Amino acid sequence: MKVLILYFSATGNTAKIAKVIEEKFKEEGVRVTMSDITPFGERQRKIDFEPYQAVVFGAPIHVCRAPRVVRDWLRTLDGQGKKCSMFFTYGGFGVHPSHYSTREILKEQNFIVVSSAEFLGAHTFNLGGWRALGDRPNELDFEVAKDYVELTCKRFTGEDDRILGELEKTEHTEEQLDSAETSRFKVLTQLPTRGGEECSMCLDCEELCPTGAMEAESGEADKEKCIACLACVSNCPEEALKINDMSNSWSLRLDKEKVTEESIKEQKSKIYF
Ligand SMILES: Cc1cc2nc3c(=O)[nH]c(=O)nc-3n(C[C@H](O)[C@H](O)[C@H](O)COP(=O)(O)O)c2cc1C
Ligand code: SF4
Ligand code: SF4
Repeated sequence: MKVLILYFSATGNTAKIAKVIEEKFKEEGVRVTMSDITPFGERQRKIDFEPYQAVVFGAPIHVCRAPRVVRDWLRTLDGQGKKCSMFFTYGGFGVHPSHYSTREILKEQNFIVVSSAEFLGAHTFNLGGWRALGDRPNELDFEVAKDYVELTCKRFTGEDDRILGELEKTEHTEEQLDSAETSRFKVLTQLPTRGGEECSMCLDCEELCPTGAMEAESGEADKEKCIACLACVSNCPEEALKINDMSNSWSLRLDKEKVTEESIKEQKSKIYF
């Protein structure tokens, strides 16, 4: 069996899980092609799914769903009736709408979704002073990823001919989630900027920006294009790119959700069948 793994990862959590999934598929005797669709250019090329028996899609969640650029890209694919599976990484809050919403898109694009999974990962906003799950994903999360592959493999081969069952729907409409996603700047009030920091002009921030929003020369992000993924901030070798201090919004978020830093750590990665 030949499987294609397509994943988006701005700060590396989803890439780590994708790697574990790749290794486990190989252990199961599956031939795997990995493709990182984070760079803008990778999402412009046409993908032919014909050579593959099945596809795995991985993404972080940005405000309860896969990032907007990933959802838009999924809507350009032709699934050719192939089986597929999804997985998400998230920073401890509100993951469940991502399964439902992404499956709806994949079904529309003529894929058959057989399974899904979610994995805890350091919250991107830790780069601005949040303290969510700084040490995740960890070995326990990787073990869940391996179990996920074992079960998914059986569904891909047909040994288990079921598809992904009922998923919990969110109480929010897609429009409400769209609006929450675009108002992310209430938390990230300052887009990544270099200010007066030293810069070696390596161009990584510009080349790795998934939306073409970052300009290395000025060290400023375009507000219309930026999705606040913080790939530029986390990958700058000089640590020259900064965002605003978000530690205050971290405390507010804990209060709003009625959770503590400790209770978030107790959450476990999970498989959906
Ligand atoms: C704009 C934005 C919105 C996010 N929204 C959520 C969210 O609603 N809930 C959550 O638990 N994590 C959220 N996160 C955190 C990411 O889902 C999490 O850190 C993920 O593992 C990042 O994956 P990556 O390292 O592969 O980019 C958000 C991150 C960003 C950048
Ligand atoms: S990644 Fe950092 S060092 Fe490299 S060009 Fe951008 S700001 Fe400068
Ligand atoms: S400029 Fe915005 S979209 Fe581009 S990498 Fe930085 S945070 Fe992400």
